[in-house]
Amino acid sequence: MKVLILGSGGREHALAWAVARSPRVTEIVCSPGNGGMAQIARCVPVDLKDLDAMVGLAESEKPDLTIVGPELPLSLGIVDALHERGLRVFGPTRAAAMLESSKGFAKRFLQRHNIPTPNYAVCVSAAEVEKAIEVFHPPIVVKADGLAAGKGVIMCDSRHTAAEAAQDLFSGALLGTPEHQVVIEEFLEGDEISFLCLSDGKHVTPLVPSQDHKRIGEGDTGPNTGGMGVYSTDTLLDPAMSDWILRHVAEPTIQGMAEEETPFTGVLYCGLMMTARGPQVLEFNARFGDPETQAILVRLESDLVDAIEACIDGRLADTTLRWTPGASACVVASSGGYPGSYKTGFPITGLGAAAQVPGVEVFHAGTALMGGQLLTAGGRVLGVTAAADSLQEALDRAYRVMAEIFFEGIYYRRDIGHRALKGGARV
Ligand code: AMP
Ligand code: GLY
Repeated sequence: MKVLILGSGGREHALAWAVARSPRVTEIVCSPGNGGMAQIARCVPVDLKDLDAMVGLAESEKPDLTIVGPELPLSLGIVDALHERGLRVFGPTRAAAMLESSKGFAKRFLQRHNIPTPNYAVCVSAAEVEKAIEVFHPPIVVKADGLAAGKGVIMCDSRHTAAEAAQDLFSGALLGTPEHQVVIEEFLEGDEISFLCLSDGKHVTPLVPSQDHKRIGEGDTGPNTGGMGVYSTDTLLDPAMSDWILRHVAEPTIQGMAEEETPFTGVLYCGLMMTARGPQVLEFNARFGDPETQAILVRLESDLVDAIEACIDGRLADTTLRWTPGASACVVASSGGYPGSYKTGFPITGLGAAAQVPGVEVFHAGTALMGGQLLTAGGRVLGVTAAADSLQEALDRAYRVMAEIFFEGIYYRRDIGHRALKGGARV
């Protein structure tokens, strides 16, 4: 079986690693891939913003299965385009991916289906924003409607700054391109959980839960990033809570999408805030998370390709996923300056250390392989992912390997997992 993986981050490297473990897979192509994927697959350049280029690539490679990593190709309709050409592909259609690509769509959908989510208003003009924020108490959350790679959410401590933030989204001053809609949202406090599920359009199978660390700084300070680290444990959600989320969030979402004739096949990522009044949906993603996927896949014992094919063929109800009990953690190393401006092209050393520590995988993100030398090539450069019986041991392993890795300007948070470990809890 030949598998094409679209994307170039740590998520896609982890997907390629998991796909490579499937005995049915004989060939993996990653597009565009990165320096890590180049060591286990053939990498072919492609522009993930260019639908025609991606379709052309799939038509010439003729993979038996295409797995779409990032949100942009999904929002452009890569799944619809490959379906039209009779190619098997894993991911939601463009219409179903709107759960991620339009926050206004997602909020209205959630409200229509009585799925818990913070109070909100969808606004199409500055005048509507002015009116809406009168009934919100600061802090107020202002969100871009469209995809914004983590930069489209602004926390505002007054109505005045909320109005300004919305104006900057409408004008394009904040994201470069003007937004037609913004979402004004109630600010919620609590712990965040990434609850990812597989869906075949009808059924839902949850993956192990995980918790991301979105801020650049230790103690969750500083600007948001794509994700600086993540952990997954058996005790992150108790079974009753997990079941509640399945019944009241994930299943009604999949049912609602089916009823509205935009069935959702792929990974439904529910970004939840665990609040005093129960779990609330902050966002949906229509794909695997990054870095969640790294920590999730090192715990998956079942064949990922079988699970994906069960989704495509509508057989998920007959599929059970097996997981390694215990915990996993992924610590991301970024280029100095990220998420602001940073330099690239620095040699990366010390990767051999991973082989000395059991249960550790290094998944690359922004790396390039040039003449046999690995160089930094992005903001998030790589992630060290470790599995173990306990979270403490998984973190110890990841940090032991990270301490050996070096490139100029390397930065990583030393407190991944701090929320689970606080109070001396060892899970
Ligand atoms: P989103 O892209 O909607 O998940 O937002 C990015 C991040 O902003 C989330 O992971 C949260 O940390 C934070 N956030 C988003 N919405 C809210 C909210 N209503 N209340 C508090 N924090 C939020
Ligand atoms: N880790 C957050 C995301 O994948 O969107």
